[in-house]
Amino acid sequence: MSSIFSLSMNLTSSPMLGDIAYFILWGMLFPLLAMVSFNFLRHKQCCYEEKRKVPPGEMGFPLIGETMEFFNAQRRNQLFEKFVHPRVVKHGKVFKTRIMGSPTVIVNGAEANKFLLSNEFKLVKSSWPSSSVQLMGSDSIMEKDGERHRFLRGVIGTSLGYVGLEPLVPRLCNSVIFHLAKHWQGQEKISLYRSTKVLTFSIVFECLLGINVEPGMLDIFERVLEGVFSPAIMCPGTKFWRAKKARMEIEKMLVKVVREKRKEIEGGLQREQDGMLLSKLICGMIQGEISEKEVIDNVVLLVFAAHDTTSFAVAMTFKMLAKHPDCYGKVLQEHVAIRRNKRWGENLTLEDIKKMKYTWQVARETMRLFPPIFGSFRKAITDIEYEGFTIPKGWKVLWTTYGTHFNEEYFKDPMSFNPSRFDEGMPQYAFVPFGGGPRVCAGYQLAKLNILIFVHYVVTQYEWFLLHPDESITMDPLPFPSFGMPIKIFPKHT
Ligand code: HEM
Repeated sequence: MSSIFSLSMNLTSSPMLGDIAYFILWGMLFPLLAMVSFNFLRHKQCCYEEKRKVPPGEMGFPLIGETMEFFNAQRRNQLFEKFVHPRVVKHGKVFKTRIMGSPTVIVNGAEANKFLLSNEFKLVKSSWPSSSVQLMGSDSIMEKDGERHRFLRGVIGTSLGYVGLEPLVPRLCNSVIFHLAKHWQGQEKISLYRSTKVLTFSIVFECLLGINVEPGMLDIFERVLEGVFSPAIMCPGTKFWRAKKARMEIEKMLVKVVREKRKEIEGGLQREQDGMLLSKLICGMIQGEISEKEVIDNVVLLVFAAHDTTSFAVAMTFKMLAKHPDCYGKVLQEHVAIRRNKRWGENLTLEDIKKMKYTWQVARETMRLFPPIFGSFRKAITDIEYEGFTIPKGWKVLWTTYGTHFNEEYFKDPMSFNPSRFDEGMPQYAFVPFGGGPRVCAGYQLAKLNILIFVHYVVTQYEWFLLHPDESITMDPLPFPSFGMPIKIFPKHT
């Protein structure tokens, strides 16, 4: 060892040779050190696992573990069939693996979902990849714990909860009517998925937050979203690099909007009571309860949380309606009956929405079979005892929607499309497209209104046909129809 050191000392007298020696040295030492530390860690882990009973399963290759199998299955939208299910059969509902460098326990079943999701902050905390945190912002609600999380949810909840819905309904109706007039009228063929993305974006910005959508904004946001799950490599040309640049553009734009709105509110030009979420957040800022960064980060997060999820749910609902004409007939009946009691051009009310019971069953059954979010990661903040196993502190834990949605134990004939199954109750935490516990989706009610109101106006105004009835779904990492779900449309002459 000392001879290697002295060799390097001699060579470093010439700067050029010094660099070469340095690289050669590290080239030799690095693999050695990596092997020693890997073996040491593996030995430590084996001792730990012998003492405590960690769940069964395989950790795959050194460091990368089973990451490739996980991503390959995910990309083909076969995470359940190719990754989760074979391991459940082999090891049981709770099994260990290693994904993206972290030892991870995957839990399946309603009891496991309940245990994990309701113990947020006590046993686990949410665990997002570094790229997501950097792009969404470290001050968004997804990064907050305990009291701060409760406070921010309270503010966001006043606009997104049941009480905030009444004024949202007419705004959403106007948005949908405007969208159809601008993007559907006069067209023969459109991409349904693209259309729902444009609509969802303007609903979050204009109806919820109260910010005007300027040309080009959607593209910049989509560039940010593209990097949210990519490796956090800040090299020119990477997805993450592009996303980070887009995030900076958004930040600049939002800071301007926030400061202008703050001036308006402080100058008495605009009262908080415009009911918009941005005004509520800014009032919190004026009172010193919320920082400017918290406002910006949460605006970005809300767009991220709503965007691909709602658009996919709407698009797949239409796909299911096209594939199940009997269900479509019942949905149409529901909406024609509601329209019949309205004057021409009269908006829907919250009471009308409550009458869309069957449509909501169709949407929920769609999200059961095609969950927009397959599950999410948590990190154990203490050793967790579950079902006779120990999930060691620091390990990741993944709950999945598939673990219950595709399980005969909770849903009879689980792979068949049967919206009427929602006539009956089901075990808690079995139907979890919106998650559960303290981090249950904050935008559940908005997503529901978005889906129902869009279905209402489309089915009462248009006939449509899928151009690729067997279009596949790609996941990257959220699911989307591979060709954007092109449809042929014809206005109804009613
Ligand atoms: C069909 C559409 C949607 C689906 C399927 C969905 C699903 C989910 C899920 C599964 C979670 C929990 C994630 C976890 O446990 O880590 C979540 C959280 C969240 N969602 Fe949604 N979401 C949808 C639409 C929306 C919309 C429209 C908004 C708001 C504009 C929204 C805002 C949020 C927020 C803020 C959180 C984080 C809550 C927290 O950390 O306390 N979501 N969503």
